[in-house]
Amino acid sequence: MSDLAFQRCIHPHCGTTVDLADTSFHCPKCGGLLDVAYDWNRLPVPTSLKHFEAKWSNRTHPLDFSGVWRFRELFPFAPDEKIMTIGEGQTLCQRADSVAAYCGMKPGTTYLQYEGMNPSGSFKDNGMTAAFTHAQMVGARRAACASTGNTSASLAIYCAASQLMRAVIFIGSGKISYGKLSQALEHGALTVQIAGDFDDALRRVQEVSRQLGIYLVNSINPFRLEGQKSVMLRVLEALRWEVPDWIVVPGGNLGNSSAFGKAFIELTELGLIAKPPRIAVINAAGADTFYQLYERNGVRWNGGQPDDRKIGVYMKYLDDADKRADTLASAIEINRPVNLPKALRALERCGGVVREVTDAEMLDAKAKIGAGGLGCEPASAASVAGLQKLVREGVIDPGERAVCILTAHLLKDPTATVAYHSSDPKTFDDVLGKRGVRRANFANRAVQVPNDLTAIVQAIELYA
Ligand code: F0G
Repeated sequence: MSDLAFQRCIHPHCGTTVDLADTSFHCPKCGGLLDVAYDWNRLPVPTSLKHFEAKWSNRTHPLDFSGVWRFRELFPFAPDEKIMTIGEGQTLCQRADSVAAYCGMKPGTTYLQYEGMNPSGSFKDNGMTAAFTHAQMVGARRAACASTGNTSASLAIYCAASQLMRAVIFIGSGKISYGKLSQALEHGALTVQIAGDFDDALRRVQEVSRQLGIYLVNSINPFRLEGQKSVMLRVLEALRWEVPDWIVVPGGNLGNSSAFGKAFIELTELGLIAKPPRIAVINAAGADTFYQLYERNGVRWNGGQPDDRKIGVYMKYLDDADKRADTLASAIEINRPVNLPKALRALERCGGVVREVTDAEMLDAKAKIGAGGLGCEPASAASVAGLQKLVREGVIDPGERAVCILTAHLLKDPTATVAYHSSDPKTFDDVLGKRGVRRANFANRAVQVPNDLTAIVQAIELYA
């Protein structure tokens, strides 16, 4: 299998190839990021995406049941017997007319890809099953990540379910929601709390993994991104293999945007789709490095030679001003996205745009998504808040077809949700007011009534 699949530096002027089994995840020559690459000419590639529909008749086969691995011909790096699946990727792409109305889109145009349905409650399982499979292929015994919470929850579950590896997770102090922390603890991960934030933890976990030879599963790991390509394959499948006009996705470490871009570039090159959709990446305003670099400083992929000087100047400004990422959407509270070059490449090939949305905009969008029947965590709602903004700006036309990615489940991070809907001003202020959120425009407040049958009946008749 190894000469059919390998790793390759993403920069075309370098293009150094690296063995499939290498776990350093950096180009040995130029230090750049790596892709998993394939010799497609020698691999059995389906001639039409409809081919994948046949897999549904084989649902008792665990690999065809997985919403990731049933597409494995499009990321053929692992022999079937090494694949570790826990039934990830059984997720829903749902038409959402109430969300369309909120965003100023026409009915029937707007879809929500709900990755909260994964076993660990977030999209991370799509990538973790692939990274974990590679870890097994290279005989790893320990696997590590830095995390704002969802990557660590996913890793902990794969380690616990397989009993094959020990999970070591690095988290910033006070930065992880209880929903996510509880998963890591319950599933037995060694949890290392660093005095610092996610950006600090990510730097440390890379040093420690190198020193101790621990397998790294952060999205710098290109095998993770191979699994995450399947999110887009499921979107296409749900749309009967029609390519939407827009994919709108929250941006943190930029793994998703990079993976989605790679999926569409490959599908186009393999002749399986005519052209890619456009991609909109949405940052939180308090963690907006990608927005600043792409939209404000004009940094582009530039055929594989992005303007490193501009990027360096911006990173130095973050350092000098000790500017830390700061948003209620803790999942995307990241100022130094490791996949920046890959995301630039994705946006070049997919006509991309980047926007930033405030915490208040995310929470309002989240309440609207919830009222429409899908529960997501604050970071996920950046996609819908971003769609609304792009429609207002006239970048997205109300008649175009857009798919917003809901990256994780509501119960991952309920604190902001409870505060948003609270009728107690102190609860609101303690969580949201002190972070600059002034109003909850779509709050569904609990009704306070005395313990009295007549009063209870009156309240229900009044409100419901
Ligand atoms: N949404 C959620 C719910 C996330 O957990 C993350 C990332 C993102 C969006 C951003 O995705 O990095 O692909 O741009 N969470 C990581 C973690 C950092 O550690 O769980 P990205």
